[in-house]
Amino acid sequence: MTKKKKIVVLGGSGYIGTQLCELYKNETHKYNITVIDNRFISERVKQLNEWGMRFIQGSILDEKLMKEQLKDCDFCFHLAGQTVVPSTKSDSNPEWDKQIIETGTKGSKIVIDSMGPNCKIIFPSTHVVFEGLKETVYDIDENHETCPVLSYSKSKVETEEYLKSLSDKNYIILRLSSAYGIVHDSSSMRLNVLPNLFAKMTSQGQTLKLYSKGVQLKSLVSINDICRSMKFFMSQTEIKREIFNISNENMTIKQLSELCQKIKPSIEIIETNDKIPNLGYSMDNSKLKNTGFSFQSNIEDELREMINYWSFDKKKMNNSKVYSKKEEFEMNKLISPDPHMGGGIIID
Ligand SMILES: NC(=O)c1ccc[n+]([C@@H]2O[C@H](COP(=O)([O-])OP(=O)(O)OC[C@H]3O[C@@H](n4cnc5c(N)ncnc54)[C@H](O)[C@@H]3O)[C@@H](O)[C@H]2O)c1
Repeated sequence: MTKKKKIVVLGGSGYIGTQLCELYKNETHKYNITVIDNRFISERVKQLNEWGMRFIQGSILDEKLMKEQLKDCDFCFHLAGQTVVPSTKSDSNPEWDKQIIETGTKGSKIVIDSMGPNCKIIFPSTHVVFEGLKETVYDIDENHETCPVLSYSKSKVETEEYLKSLSDKNYIILRLSSAYGIVHDSSSMRLNVLPNLFAKMTSQGQTLKLYSKGVQLKSLVSINDICRSMKFFMSQTEIKREIFNISNENMTIKQLSELCQKIKPSIEIIETNDKIPNLGYSMDNSKLKNTGFSFQSNIEDELREMINYWSFDKKKMNNSKVYSKKEEFEMNKLISPDPHMGGGIIID
């Protein structure tokens, strides 16, 4: 019998990690999967155990743990990092920056140094490495020079550089656009990414406020396609030491808000003159598509799913009310011509 390959998912209790593990849930006969995260989330650990995956609560800053777990590892998904980060210089402070760099740069070095010689690492970097662009650049490809400004993107660039400088490491760097889409484990759902936040606000009937009239350009990709691309690159043994942009759609924030309004026409959108850090930029995905990878999800469908999932639905409320026989008869006449299709009304 062939030996099972070992997969280690670092930061596996997070938004991407949750969805990624779900993609592997029927493959534990082929892989030994260990998930490491410094957060212990009860339901998540139970679910991983049920899928046949091992959970270890621990930090990527723990050199001993990393050496133990990564020396014989075949595939490492390094998703661990701080994602609650400042979005402008004025938001940031030295203590916060220190923490981001500590996990992002120092932690990543520990991970990379701990990997055994046969390990392939999939490292999610970000499109934010271009946040310093002074004007809008369209279709940025993988060779474009990075210009990080804040600690989050600086630490991503430092890790990219560290991987590239060590000629013996087998890596794939994925520059992810802003992720969108629901993960059905609420403890891992991220609402601090713009498409998810807009969907949440729309579902709650809140007004969408567009800074600088929503002109900023954003690149987007679904959580489903991010995880599919990670799995894809893990399995492509001939593709190594490469960077790929993982981006499906490019649109302005105004266009994103209009999609929300298309799904829920009653919401209000207002435009303000508040300043934004840059006008945004768009990402080119042709290198990714040339590998044969194709996208499955799109922004409109995923926004609709999230908005419907969180919206208060009067029909659902009506359906849970207990009606008298007379009321039910009257309502059935209104709701449906067929009294046997009365919408699941509970009768006394
Ligand atoms: N979601 C996006 O839109 C997006 C876009 C670009 C890049 N990324 C990158 O992808 C990775 C995963 O993102 P996510 O959206 O799942 O974020 P997330 O915040 O949901 O998950 C990150 C996980 O890392 C864990 N973690 C933090 N510090 C740790 C440490 N020292 N040791 C072990 N675990 C630690 C956290 O507990 C969390 O569960 C991050 O590195 C992020 O920068 C995400």
